[in-house]
Amino acid sequence: MPVSDHQLTQAWEEVLRLSRVKPGHIVTILTGASTHPQTLRAATLAAQAAGAVVSRIDLPPVNAHRALSRDPLAYLGETPLTGNPAAIAALKASDLVLDLMTLLFSPEQIDILESGTKILLAVEPPEILVRTVPTEADRARVLKASEKLKKARQMRVVSEAGTDVTFDLGTFPTICEYGFVDEPGRWDHWPSGFLFTFANEGGSNGTIVVDTGDIVLPQKSYATAPIRLTIERGYAKAIEGGIDAQLLAEYMATFNDPEAYAISHIGWGLQPRCHWSTLALYDKEQTIGMDARAYEGNFLFSLGPNNEAGGSRTTACHIDIPLRKCTVSLDGEVVVRSGTVVERGDA
Ligand SMILES: [Fe+2]
Repeated sequence: MPVSDHQLTQAWEEVLRLSRVKPGHIVTILTGASTHPQTLRAATLAAQAAGAVVSRIDLPPVNAHRALSRDPLAYLGETPLTGNPAAIAALKASDLVLDLMTLLFSPEQIDILESGTKILLAVEPPEILVRTVPTEADRARVLKASEKLKKARQMRVVSEAGTDVTFDLGTFPTICEYGFVDEPGRWDHWPSGFLFTFANEGGSNGTIVVDTGDIVLPQKSYATAPIRLTIERGYAKAIEGGIDAQLLAEYMATFNDPEAYAISHIGWGLQPRCHWSTLALYDKEQTIGMDARAYEGNFLFSLGPNNEAGGSRTTACHIDIPLRKCTVSLDGEVVVRSGTVVERGDA
């Protein structure tokens, strides 16, 4: 369903209000070849309405000769900022960068954030943005959950499909994504509404079964049969199953990088306005699949890098897999039971 400019501009105005944009702030909109023109139009209008000094930096795409798809999250390599000190200087001089390009986790992004600049990524199509406008309640819920995750020393995940895996925790920080940037140096992604951390190096062991119907990203497909991953000392040592397992394994093999198989971020979804079923309604190039990453009650795990949280592993391969119907426990306390979030006061 199309969205009016007015409605999308209102959504941006709310996100900028939550992000504490004030008159005179420097807001720079980062755009690229796939930026949605209506999103750019609405973001520009809303930032101007907030009294910000608004600029646009448009950068050409990179990585196309190495990436196997157009999905901007599928290949973590160089960014259009690599070797571009002029653009980096402009972004560092900004209070807020609206990333409508997909800068991704990169040394350049970390450098910009360390200068105090805030970055908000927003590349899903307009109707998804309007549906998932973040709220203070989203933030409060994610932060509350993060108090448990920060203290936990082990996460265990089990499911009737056969998942039984443990992750040792404590080395890496907990990262909260709630859809707006209310503090200097903060990065976030609209839409989101989830939290995650990274397992200690070598501290992941067990079996993960991607069940029929679970989503694999960036393939953006629903598994048609179970995929069994055997996890040993932090790495997926075997990927077994039918055609979906073969597609995943062959895709990962093309990167020719052992680090592609490392367990990356692990966490769970808390966003009731995102849905498991939404991906089925879209052509693959219309969305990056944030509904799948954020829907309430998922267990989202990833294979690939951990440099986002200060680890040393980098790899261009990045797989995100949200699982349904899992039970997630932190040091024995259930936080998600069979795909339903358990919070204080719940049984
Ligand atoms: Fe990821």
